[in-house]
Amino acid sequence: MSVTVRVPAKVNVQLAVGAARPDGFHDLANVFLAVGLYDEVTVTPAEELRVTCEGPDADQVPLDRTNLAARAAVALAGRRGIEPAVHIHIAKDIPVAGGMAGGSADGAGALLACDTLWGTGASRAELLAICAELGSDVPFSLVGGAALGTGRGERLTVLETGGTFHWVFAMAARGLSTPAVFREFDRLAEGRRIPEPVARPELLDALAKGDTEALAAFLGNDLQPAALSLFPELADTLEAGRGAGALATLVSGSGPTTAFLTRDAAAAEKVAEALRASGTCRTVRTAAGPAAGATVL
Ligand code: C5P
Repeated sequence: MSVTVRVPAKVNVQLAVGAARPDGFHDLANVFLAVGLYDEVTVTPAEELRVTCEGPDADQVPLDRTNLAARAAVALAGRRGIEPAVHIHIAKDIPVAGGMAGGSADGAGALLACDTLWGTGASRAELLAICAELGSDVPFSLVGGAALGTGRGERLTVLETGGTFHWVFAMAARGLSTPAVFREFDRLAEGRRIPEPVARPELLDALAKGDTEALAAFLGNDLQPAALSLFPELADTLEAGRGAGALATLVSGSGPTTAFLTRDAAAAEKVAEALRASGTCRTVRTAAGPAAGATVL
């Protein structure tokens, strides 16, 4: 018997970053939107814990116990005093090291899949607590839809969405490490007073109303200057999308995936075509959000 869970990618429509905390993390006001690009995580009983991965970026995914999917299985099994004896297979469609929470998606997916396979009967609250231990973005991968993450991003408040938002995502030729981008944020911020991170009310209102133009006006990512500093060529990708008629452009999370908000699905296809022709990125995908969180298939 196997259990398969489908988990979405995310884009941060606002990522407000505060000063570095004593524990090295940063307080955030992180407005997540799940989008319809998915990984599928399948767990099957096995002699011992094993991870395999298929997909275009599969060779960049670690298959040892550092993989968030493996860590999720170990964490849940540990709480129940059982062995994490499963084969975890990841069918990967979310870009690796792209700032779209691909690793977090696999963690949340494996956790829900193991919970279902083992019949552990964990409450939603316990699953969310395990997700928060695994990483700051993992709880959102479980929940999906749209949410505001505070603390280091793991404390979620579900947000209303009044419509569908159409996006184009451009994947870069190489990845960016999230810790490296936060370190660059700290370096660029040296000597400046960093305000408390807060979600913009106008942005939350735009999400609630399904108002694409208003969302475009208030999108923002405080990590964008740091990502551009480490990966200056991303400016060319952003420019190509802007020139093709995207309503707004932004680096997704810690990057280097760039995100383009468009009026509708037809406009998204047009921007995607222009980005493909621009030669400024590796691959281009369109996806709409909000998308459902981790779901047992
Ligand atoms: O929580 P997660 O393991 O995904 O975080 C990866 C890294 O990103 C952390 O080790 C830290 O360097 C950085 N980070 C941060 N502040 C956050 C979230 C992540 O500095 N709120």
